This record gives sequence, structure tokens and C-alpha cells, in this order.
Amino acid sequence: MKFSEEFEARFAEMVTHYPTKRSALVPTLLYAQDEVGCLSDEVIIEIASRLDLTELDVRNVISYYSMLTTKPRGKFNVQVCTNISCLVRGGEEILHHCAKRLGIGHKGTTPDGLFSLEEVECIGACSWAPAVQVNYDFHENLTPEKMDAVIEQYRKREQQ
Ligand code: FES
Repeated sequence: MKFSEEFEARFAEMVTHYPTKRSALVPTLLYAQDEVGCLSDEVIIEIASRLDLTELDVRNVISYYSMLTTKPRGKFNVQVCTNISCLVRGGEEILHHCAKRLGIGHKGTTPDGLFSLEEVECIGACSWAPAVQVNYDFHENLTPEKMDAVIEQYRKREQQ
């Protein structure tokens, strides 16, 4: 399997920062996912081999982190937190609103491949609940109206 030159440069630099190669697993998976779109079997085999791990080691880590996926997602992955702080401040309402607005449910992807939706556990933004993470961006203190603006912002970004 072949990654881009940019990935290779990042990988080569990154492994020098850890005492053991396996410690670079999560960031390597994130870089690979950003580049390929998901962690396919081919990607998993390649990364396991590079970091002296088994395929099962890599799959176990992928299954632990909600931000890692073996299946393709939409270009913008909308992760709605419904854990306790968000729950008491309207997180479920935000989730249902997104589902209605995007026409998809939990782990669904819109037919144009632009958005996918996920209900997730705490994303570490409890003080600003209810919170949503879209790819690497956080959106906080949301209401259904503010969530509409967030979705539109990504739709517009795609049209530019
Ligand atoms: S409970 Fe939602 S961000 Fe922590």
C-alpha cells in the first residue's frame, strides 16, 4: 500500500518522538484515515507491519476510539455528544434535529457523501454543553437554530 509523500514525511518524523514504535499508533491511524477516508483492511495491515503490531492489536485500538473508523464516512462527520452534561442541556434534541435535518440516523451518511452523523460519548467540552464535533472542529452551546447554521457553514465550504 502506498501513502502520499506528505504522510511518509509525517510518519518518519513522528516515530522519532516516541520511545517505542507502537506508541505512534493512534496518530498514525488518524493521519492514514484523513488521507484514505477510512481504515481499510489494507491500511490496517500496512500500519500493523510498520509498527511491529498484529492486525488484531490495531483493530482493538480502532474499536476503542469513536473517531477511528473502518467504514467510509461523509466528508464532514457530525458527532453529537449525548453524555450527561450535554444530555441535560439538550444534546438529544440536537441529535434528533441533526437526524431530521440531514435525513440520516446514527452512523448514517447522506447520499451525496457530504455528511455523516454519529451519537458519541463525552467529547471533553462539557462546560459548553451541548457540544458537537465536526471532524476536528468543536461547536458549543448549541441550539437547533445554531446547529442549522453549523451545517450550512459546512455545506457552503463545500461549494466554494
Ligand atoms: S458530556 Fe458532552 S462534552 Fe462532555
